[in-house]
Amino acid sequence: MAHPNIALIKYWGKRDEEWVLPAADSLSLTLDVFPTTTGVRLAPQAAGDRVLLGGQEATGPAQARVADFLHLVRELAGRREPAVVDSRNTVPTGAGLASSASGFAALAVAAAAAYGLAADPAALSRLARRGSGSACRSLFGGFAQWHAALDAGGGAAADRVSLAEPVPAAAGLEVALVIVVVNAGPKAVSSRAAMRRTVATSPLYRPWVASSVQDLTQMRAALAAGDLNAVGEITERNALGMHATMLAARPAVRYLAPASLTALDAVLALRERGLAAYATMDAGPNVKVLCAAGQASQVAAALREAVPQASVVVARPGPGARLVAGDGR
Ligand code: DP6
Repeated sequence: MAHPNIALIKYWGKRDEEWVLPAADSLSLTLDVFPTTTGVRLAPQAAGDRVLLGGQEATGPAQARVADFLHLVRELAGRREPAVVDSRNTVPTGAGLASSASGFAALAVAAAAAYGLAADPAALSRLARRGSGSACRSLFGGFAQWHAALDAGGGAAADRVSLAEPVPAAAGLEVALVIVVVNAGPKAVSSRAAMRRTVATSPLYRPWVASSVQDLTQMRAALAAGDLNAVGEITERNALGMHATMLAARPAVRYLAPASLTALDAVLALRERGLAAYATMDAGPNVKVLCAAGQASQVAAALREAVPQASVVVARPGPGARLVAGDGR
């Protein structure tokens, strides 16, 4: 079982597609809502892998992506049997709510156990990365940093060291993430395709990566100091910068919808009222608002009023991925 994570410093762009190696480090918060529960059962007599998503038989690219991941696990474990994967999300899939992060983190944990692959959280983080980059951060609870491992170059050498690690934060830093679900439908362009297009065509991409490297250093300092305003400011500017890179891609990728902008205006209004509230957005129209845990219900109420058609969920830091009883069935 695994929970989604939301990046405060974004992962946007790979330097190596095959090994899922990112262009830069990213840093996220694992949440306590919307877990994915995944069972992997070996099926030695079956002709191939079966994938059930929310109880429905997956076909096409969705099935292939899971089967490719199982293939990788089998290679590492020296095994051959196909498997049945039964995965249940409590978050809408493909709507920019990090379902691929919780999905591949949960699959990595369950598949490694099913195939007898001895793996600690660091090894599982590396493995989950191969399924979906952001998934490597969901192996850990709270704040986690995914190392790009640029010094290691590319390919197998970087594969060994590109993984996530927990990031310490000051004990007094009690945060919440208020999620404004503007539209739970699947996105028009997958994050994988959108980041590929951004890297290849956006003139703003390289400058954003350079500023993201600085954002990350400053974010670590702000977390260590327990400075919520600094954490929030860095979070918001990093996300807006990422969206700027996509808007400048050719053709442009735009995930933000009118209701997303309404939510962003509401966040500004909250700040004018003196609340520490800062927004981040991923590959979808939903807006996530970082704030103090003690002010989360006030922030949620303001967002419900501003965006009445949205559903608003308050999340707190959650646990890392783990094996739970029944994962093998
Ligand atoms: C905008 O991890 O879904 O959420 O590695 O191609 O599977 P792939 O991409 P994915 O991208 C997540 C992008 C993001 C930012 C983030 O989570 O850091």
